[in-house]
Amino acid sequence: MWTRHLFLKLSANSTLRRWMESSPHARHLTERFIAGETLEQELDVCANLEQQGVWAALDHLGESVTTLDEAAQSAEAYVAALDGIAARKLASVVSIKITQFGVDLSPAACLANVVRVVEKGKSIGSRVEIDMESSRYTDRTLYIAEQASALGPVRCVIQAYLHRSRADVERMNRLRIPVRLCKGAYDEPVTVAFPSKADVDEHYLQLMRTLLDDGTYPAIATHDPRMLEATTAYALERGISADRFEFQMLYGIRRDLQRKLVEQGYRLRLYVPYGTAWYPYFMRRLAERPANVFFLVRNLFH
Ligand code: FDA
Repeated sequence: MWTRHLFLKLSANSTLRRWMESSPHARHLTERFIAGETLEQELDVCANLEQQGVWAALDHLGESVTTLDEAAQSAEAYVAALDGIAARKLASVVSIKITQFGVDLSPAACLANVVRVVEKGKSIGSRVEIDMESSRYTDRTLYIAEQASALGPVRCVIQAYLHRSRADVERMNRLRIPVRLCKGAYDEPVTVAFPSKADVDEHYLQLMRTLLDDGTYPAIATHDPRMLEATTAYALERGISADRFEFQMLYGIRRDLQRKLVEQGYRLRLYVPYGTAWYPYFMRRLAERPANVFFLVRNLFH
């Protein structure tokens, strides 16, 4: 547990970030989790996955921009990604973060940036998924998701570790906004999030059932075999066919389970990040699994 807090704390450390992102070993270190630095590398990976029957959600890495110009450039990077998806006729979607679109600088400009990408997504028959960041952003993220979903297909993310999430899931179900259900990846105070894994898991199972019963094409995002088995069992029990929901996992994590789901005939989408600003994403992945820390040390200093 201490490693989780330590790595989540380090994920916000700018000195370590500069050092690691400019390390000559960076590519070697990140290639397991990150498709590459360029859009072309990303699209190659997504096309390859699609040949194996797996869809993708493209994530152009980057968080918390400092100017509105940078925020607009983030939106343009996603418009270019959607153009690439259309040119290659992929079934991919894109996944964005509101901090990357300038929410801390101007909520109105952020919404306009999101709308620009959502309208582009709609024009090519794709969808925009909006990642959920720390609890400081939950209300703002859901507000933007609701506004943007009036203009084109949007999926929002709900984190099972938050106490508030049942109400949020029920609201999204009422509004017919598709949800990606994940456990939650940030360091949260006990006042807003369950501190124990057992409670998070139990909440995840409850929300999964609500989404399968009443949600609109939900995405069940997890690598936890217990959550996966409970989902397939519940769908079978309720007669919910495999085309009414999808599983989502992160690129490079639990490839064994990924293969198994596809072989069993379930829909699977991988979240595939690309770009140079990989540090916070990478550190959150380390925080999730202590064994990854040994992997980091081995690769940084060999
Ligand atoms: P759990 O952490 O219990 O892990 C179950 C098993 O999965 C582990 O025992 C291990 O085998 C494997 N595993 C999990 N993480 C691993 C890792 N990093 N390296 C190696 N093995 C690992 N979070 C968030 O706050 N906002 C968001 O928008 C998203 N979006 C998102 C999209 C998708 C597609 C996924 C799969 C996940 C997210 N997340 C997220 C992250 C999520 O909240 C959570 O932190 C991770 O998925 C880890 O939780 P699991 O459900 O996998 O279970």
